[in-house]
Amino acid sequence: MDYLEITGGQALAGKVKISGAKNAALPILASALLCENLLKISNLPDVADVKTLAKLLEHLGSEIEWTSPNEMLICSSRIIHTKAIYDIVRKMRASILVLGPLLARFGKCEVSLPGGCAIGARPVDLHIKAMEKMGAEITIEGGYIVARAPRGLKGSDIIFDKITVTGTENVLMAAALAKGETKIINAAKEPEVIQLCEVLKQAGVEITGIGSNELCVRGSDGVLLRSEPICVIPDRIEAGTYLCAGAITNSHISLQGVIPTHLEAISSKLQEIGFHIHTQGDMLEIFPANKRKAFEIITTEYPGFPTDLQAQFMALATQCEGSSTIEERLFENRFMHVSELQRLGADISLRGNVAKITGREKLFGADVMATDLRASSALVLAGLVATGQTQIHRIYHLDRGYERLEEKFCALGAQIKRLREK
Ligand code: EPZ
Repeated sequence: MDYLEITGGQALAGKVKISGAKNAALPILASALLCENLLKISNLPDVADVKTLAKLLEHLGSEIEWTSPNEMLICSSRIIHTKAIYDIVRKMRASILVLGPLLARFGKCEVSLPGGCAIGARPVDLHIKAMEKMGAEITIEGGYIVARAPRGLKGSDIIFDKITVTGTENVLMAAALAKGETKIINAAKEPEVIQLCEVLKQAGVEITGIGSNELCVRGSDGVLLRSEPICVIPDRIEAGTYLCAGAITNSHISLQGVIPTHLEAISSKLQEIGFHIHTQGDMLEIFPANKRKAFEIITTEYPGFPTDLQAQFMALATQCEGSSTIEERLFENRFMHVSELQRLGADISLRGNVAKITGREKLFGADVMATDLRASSALVLAGLVATGQTQIHRIYHLDRGYERLEEKFCALGAQIKRLREK
């Protein structure tokens, strides 16, 4: 297994190109199951999660040709079976995104329950209830969701008790081929959900309410879609991670290829802390702060502060003057990075789902362990400012969602090496 060795204390400078969004790419790949034609998807991030879902789609019968590390041609006209096996699904819970398309197109499928992960139980009950509302009969057999809809799915009103990103995406894709109209109430409105709506719309699906929390979809009654070439939107979470890198090292760096409006919650929080942010077109720059003030964060659904940047801002809080508080409202166990940050000398106390971070503590390099994708990026950020060397182990978590991370950081002046465990 690989690990990262970071030598702290370097200021950063220069530009970093932001990759395509993993969390937009995954539902777009799953939506290929709804299409009869060859689909070209560009600006895909070269990350493990995308490769895992591509492997699952090939296992189902999709034909995939990688024309570059960031572009694929995919044809799902000849699907040979509808079982999403545990061995692939266990590697990435977002594999649940094949449930809606397979059920809508074939009237049956078996999808392994994804299981929990480090940040929480991550149930899929809302996905299942929505499919049942659309006419599916679902049982859980041997760790698999076994779904049948012999008469096809029918449009229905789906009211989500909780806002769920992949739940909304699953229903959107199921509704695209269902008979009649589906209304999704309390829908997620993350940019990644919006891009999926636009992809389905350009493939001929009538969708209204895009960008709001009430979506209305008129299904094709089983007629397969014909999608146009797709360019994946930039990754706002990767962008936010690099903005935190500039902030924690108090440097001037610029991000290329972003959509600044997707980063408004992050930019305004950084300005509140004391940084200057400048945007021009698809470029966004952060400038050093004279004084970095403590802050408060409560994670909420888009357009609020994203839970996927909570860990990164916690690392930043160790360098801000005063006590910051971070309340995690989406996941029940998304503080796995706290104990690792404490190993580096951070002063953090937890009370339930609220973390209190007392800043201005110097951090000192140590061996730490990545536990989940975003927690591991927080450890990289802390390593950038910790005195001495920090070794981050189990970085397969990082490789799931960050493309060429050490290459991008080194280009900004960081001292990061990827080494092999002895
Ligand atoms: C998506 O996960 C993202 N993943 C996550 O990013 C992100 O943290 C999350 O949305 C919240 O923004 C992808 O898009 C692939 P949810 P998702 O369903 O859809 C509860 C990353 O680091 N819930 O919006 O799985 C759930 O437990 C990943 O890139 C149910 O109770 O999250 C959570 O408390 C991590 N039942 C809340 O809803 C369900 O059936 C929001 O979860 C579904 C969800």
